[in-house]
Amino acid sequence: MKLPRLALTTDFKKYRPCASAALLSACVLIIMASAACRKREKPVYAVIPKGQADIYWQSIHAGAAAAAQEAGVNIDWNGPEMETDYTKQIGILDDFINRHVDGIELAPSDIDAQVPAIRRAHQAGIPLSIIDSGVNTDEYVSFVATDNYGGGVLAAKRLGEILHHKGDVAIIGVLPGAASTTAREKGFKDTLAKDSPQMKIVAFQYGMSDRARALAVAEDILSAHPSLDGFFTSNESSTIGAVQGLKQRGLLGKVKIVGFDSSPSLVDDVRAGNIDSLVLQDPFQMGYQGLKTLLDLRAGHTPPKRIDLPPVLLTRDNMNEPKMQKLLNPDIQRYLGK
Ligand code: BDR
Repeated sequence: MKLPRLALTTDFKKYRPCASAALLSACVLIIMASAACRKREKPVYAVIPKGQADIYWQSIHAGAAAAAQEAGVNIDWNGPEMETDYTKQIGILDDFINRHVDGIELAPSDIDAQVPAIRRAHQAGIPLSIIDSGVNTDEYVSFVATDNYGGGVLAAKRLGEILHHKGDVAIIGVLPGAASTTAREKGFKDTLAKDSPQMKIVAFQYGMSDRARALAVAEDILSAHPSLDGFFTSNESSTIGAVQGLKQRGLLGKVKIVGFDSSPSLVDDVRAGNIDSLVLQDPFQMGYQGLKTLLDLRAGHTPPKRIDLPPVLLTRDNMNEPKMQKLLNPDIQRYLGK
């Protein structure tokens, strides 16, 4: 049977420009799709902070980026702006679960609220490591955090020492339900009661990990306790609030501050004597180790269930020591280009 000659030749000539454009765009699409596939060929790990307002989280991000660069994997950094936004963090976690990323490094905003979503990651077979703040489940690969209770102990010993174990002090805490900062506040209270029983904690209020709120709390406490001798402030934003509150009343250096975490402005305040000391963590190492546990698991190793990072006390006397300088100046620029 003679097949009818398709009029393709003549029609083809008439349509040649469109056909070649279609061919070209098809090629472009194929190249893009294969590039996207190549991109997906590199494992992707989600890194989810509690918030992004404090400089602390930039160091966490840089540490995770360093581990990812070393291993040749990608990370996808996403977290709520404020540490109080638990629901936003759960939504971000669920998005990464639905994308079926290769692993998740999470700093949970709340000890209980994040547990169902962590369970969902476990049930989806996505390895998840916890950093910074504990949770009420053990469905994770590793928990990498500062010994936060120990950090509170360090702060209480220091404040007791510089106030000669007497006087009235106040705590500007961070967030009810945040395991990391709650442990610091407990370590501080337990140690002050044990080592400095004559000292009195006359106020304890939360700054909600917000500088403006922490300032308002500091003003409140100072109005109610005009002869206050000292503050313990259990994170960066609470410490900044106490500094600003004392500054407004001309009390910097007179009322002693022992704070937690660091930032360029807080380090300047230690150097100037506005803050007596800061309990430092190692967020770069925490972000690095948090991802490393997932990479080690992928390589067939069994990472430790708990990795404790020791807190250290920064003072004007030891701040120029190499070890302190390394903690105060993590290589953010190199890994985040910031
Ligand atoms: C602070 O919140 C804590 O969970 C971190 O350890 C850090 O101290 C960040 O605002």
